[in-house]
Amino acid sequence: LRILLIGDIVGRPGRKVVRQLLPRLRKHHRLDLVVANAENAAGGFGITPPVGEELLTSGIDLLTMGNHAWGKKESYDYVDAEPRILRPANYPAGVPGRGSTVIRTASGGLAGVINLGGRVFFSTDLECPFRTGRREAERLRERTPVILVDFHAEATSEKVALSYHLDGQVSVVAGTHTHVQTADERILPGGTACISDLGMTGPVDGVIGIRKQLALERFLTQLPIRFEVEQGPCALCGLVVEVDDRDGRAREVYRIQERG
Ligand SMILES: [Fe+2]
Ligand SMILES: [Fe+2]
Repeated sequence: LRILLIGDIVGRPGRKVVRQLLPRLRKHHRLDLVVANAENAAGGFGITPPVGEELLTSGIDLLTMGNHAWGKKESYDYVDAEPRILRPANYPAGVPGRGSTVIRTASGGLAGVINLGGRVFFSTDLECPFRTGRREAERLRERTPVILVDFHAEATSEKVALSYHLDGQVSVVAGTHTHVQTADERILPGGTACISDLGMTGPVDGVIGIRKQLALERFLTQLPIRFEVEQGPCALCGLVVEVDDRDGRAREVYRIQERG
């Protein structure tokens, strides 16, 4: 089973590079399943129904979110209604949407997907991602050994630690949120592939996707400058994982960074 996990898709430029590259990537890497983080897909913050539909008809099977899940007022109802979108599973009970699911892959098998949010350097007070991750993995394993985790977190330490915590329980732990791809992809002893961050899918010349003049102005003045998505050349960043669908262990893992 061959899976592509795509890092945070940022705004219209990010969506465009997905539409442009994904059909070829699906063929070239013989992909059975594509999961992408879409927390920044609508103008840099959140998601709307048209933006979600655009991504879910461009070769992506499932979308995950993060701290910007609620960035648009339409996000709440849409995340709640669309079964192919996840938000972090460790939000308090009663929050719209769902944090994990099981989907059918192009090759006919089942894959579980879990979205988790980190707590280090975040102001939100989520439940423990380590305990929630274990609990959700155990629940999904009753249906399939193939399980993917998008851990949306800031601190590399928290992401590496969660990868070890879930080693042998899931097929892959992929970090998202920092928008810069890390070079630490590997397969842990228990068979779990991991990477601290998938990187970003969007404009490469901004400040993690934001227009650099605006990001700089905010740093220099400390005023609440309104952010806009950068324009110009884009890249698609992600991780390809080959998983044995009999035991859920990762067999191969490599990063991709494709220019649009
Ligand atoms: Fe992001
Ligand atoms: Fe984020």
